[in-house]
Formats: sequence, structure tokens, C-alpha cells
Amino acid sequence: MELLSGTTMRDRFATIPMYEDDPILGLNEAFKQDTRERKINLGVGVYKTADLTPSILNCVKKAEAQLLNTEREKEYLPIAGLPEYRLITQKLLFGIDSSVFEDNRVFTVQTLGGSGSLRVGAEFLSQTISQEIYVPTPTWSNHKGLFQGGGMTVKNYPYFNSETHRLDFDRMIHALEQIPSSSSVLLHVCCHNPTGVDLNMDQWKIVSELMLDRGLLPFFDFAYQGFGTGIEEDAAPLRLFADAGHQMLVASSNSKNFGLYGERVGALSVVCSHSESATRCGSMLKTLIRSNYSSPSIHGARIVSTIYQSDSLRNEWKVELGTMRERIKEMRKSLIASLSAKCDHDYSFLEKQVGMFSFCGLNSEQVSRLQHEYGLYMPSSGRINVAGLNQQSLEYVVESIIAVL
Ligand SMILES: Cc1ncc(COP(=O)(O)O)c(C=O)c1O
Repeated sequence: MELLSGTTMRDRFATIPMYEDDPILGLNEAFKQDTRERKINLGVGVYKTADLTPSILNCVKKAEAQLLNTEREKEYLPIAGLPEYRLITQKLLFGIDSSVFEDNRVFTVQTLGGSGSLRVGAEFLSQTISQEIYVPTPTWSNHKGLFQGGGMTVKNYPYFNSETHRLDFDRMIHALEQIPSSSSVLLHVCCHNPTGVDLNMDQWKIVSELMLDRGLLPFFDFAYQGFGTGIEEDAAPLRLFADAGHQMLVASSNSKNFGLYGERVGALSVVCSHSESATRCGSMLKTLIRSNYSSPSIHGARIVSTIYQSDSLRNEWKVELGTMRERIKEMRKSLIASLSAKCDHDYSFLEKQVGMFSFCGLNSEQVSRLQHEYGLYMPSSGRINVAGLNQQSLEYVVESIIAVL
């Protein structure tokens, strides 16, 4: 093609390589394009009702109806986000009477979902006090990209034993003892993604003491509050660390627990030892956000705040969250019962798993056969979204799994 100047236009973008689809979100695309009648999406971590459809919580619908009548503007939020949302987040994370409030030593910024929070947190750490972060093996597939994108070097520590299908606590502790002090360590607060395997409170205590001793910085990822045991119960590890005097980061998300996936609402909280440091950290976080996306989005934060500030909507939310949690628990039980009845493997390890995800011990070859021969979609790690199952599909899923074992 000739340009006006007469020079030949070369394809400036020809050297850009073709990147692979995201291992989880790419599955959705493949699923949509699959024309088979029988296909089941057990991939992306989104809650589905018992008829396997996505839904909007009633409390969210009601809050949105209220907002429709009362909202008078859609102006920019402050860089740090909606003030009431930031406060609510702190209460949900640390409990209403946490010592972090007395001393005013936590600063929270609203972010674009939990992912945005992890990314802002990575930029903050890499430009200040910690360039290396250790993540569990395995971990959510996007952690590496988010932390590297934020300028950190990502290393691993052992977490899951794929022979026993259980937490590899001894090896985890041994690794934490070796990690250079002042490194950051990513910890999933509950409902570990992808394994569904969490630490118990005794184990958390050991990790807390060890990390304090060694000067390791906890970076908590809390994307599933309320999907494990309950809203308060799930936050117990965070609160244990806060009470023990840790300085730490917490990336939280309301994508799952308010079903606000596409609204991109989450937060990053930095817990410091003094209020002056919290203010300083806040000033840096705001600077990072301003030069990245300027300010967060308004609608999701207003929905969460409207729900939380109304006694009746807050109660309704708790009931609806409980319903989601219980359906997942029931489906996990049914999955275990059905697998155990149909084959002689010992599946008791599944009973220990918590939250949306289950690791049944499938390898990537088996996962690929499940997709191509049986229309079952899941990431190559073999992680199953238990919320993508229902009683009607269970038998087919279990028989397909057994067929590829
Ligand atoms: C462990 C974990 N952290 C963070 C996130 C990100 O959450 P969000 O969708 O709010 O960005 C997810 C989402 O799947 C997750 O599983």
C-alpha cells in the first residue's frame, strides 16, 4: 500500500507474536464454540445455580433498584475509591473491633476486582520494599502474570502433595524457613484456588510465628470470603495475623461473594505498624493508581455499600451467600459419594477440600480427553468448579471421569 508521502507502508505490528489464550478464560471461548449438545463447563470460577445458570443476587437487584432512584451523578470516584466501600471492606476483612482500627494503621484502596488489587500491590511492593514474591505450588494461574506485570520476580514454595492429594505442610514450612527474609509470600486466606486445600488454624499459627520470626511479608489473597465456612470464619487467618502484629497486604474481591464479577470491585489493604506509615503507603498507592487507571469504577462499590449499610439487604446477602456455599458443599458431597460408589479409588481426600474448587487428581492428558471425548471443560490442572455441577449432570461427569482414569 502506498502512503501519501509515497513511502511503502510496512506492517509495524508484524513482529508481534501470537499469544496463547488465557488457560481459564480461553476455555470459555472454546466451550461456547463447542456445538455438541452435551457439554459442561467446569472451568472458570463463577457460581452457577442448581440449573447451571449464572444469576444476580436478589440483594444486588434491590440495591440497584434503589440506586436507580437515588443516584444523582456518576462523577469520578476519588482515586482511593468510594469511602464507605473502603470502610466496609476493612470491617469485613478485620472484624469490627480489630486493633488495626484503634491504631488507624490500615489503608485501603478500592481496586478493579481482586486482580487489580494484586497488580497494584505488586507495583507497590516492587517499587518499595520487596521485589520477590513466593507463591504456592500450585496457585491461581493469573498470579504469576499479575506479579510479574507489577515488576516482581515470582518464585514458588511447595503447598500441595499430588500423591496424597493433601496439604504438604512440612515441605511448606521447610521452604518458608529458607526464603530470604523481607521477601513477600502469597497466602490464600481460604478456598485455595485451584486445590480447595486450606490450612487449619493451628497450621496458620505456626506460619504466622515463623513469618514474624523470619521477617517475611504476608500478601493475602482473599477472593472467596464466605464460600468456605462463613463470612467471619473465613477471615480468621487474616485476623490472626493482624492481631499477631504482622505488617501485610490483603487483596480482597467482591466478585464471588456478591456475584459482581463484571463490575470489577475489590480492594487492596495495607496493614502497617503505625498510622503515619499507613498514610504514607496510601499516598503511594494513590499515585500508582492515578498513573495507571486514574480511579476505580463506581457502580459495584455503590452496590456493595448499599447492601451492607441496610440491615435487611445485608441479612439477605448473608442468606444468599449461605445458599451458594451450601449448594457447593452439597455438590461436593454428592461428587464424593458418586465417585466412591462407581470406582474403588479412595476419594476421602476430597472431603477436606473447601470452596468452589476441587482437585480430583486428574492429569492434563485425562483433562484433554474429558474435553474432546466427553465435552467436559476444565483447566489442564484438573481443577473442577464444583459450582458448575448439578444433580442432573453429576452422573455423566463422574462416569466420564472414571472412563478416562
Ligand atoms: C485466587 C484468586 N484470586 C484473585 C482472583 C481475582 O478476582 P477478581 O475476579 O475479582 O479479579 C480470583 C478469581 O478467580 C482468584 O481465584
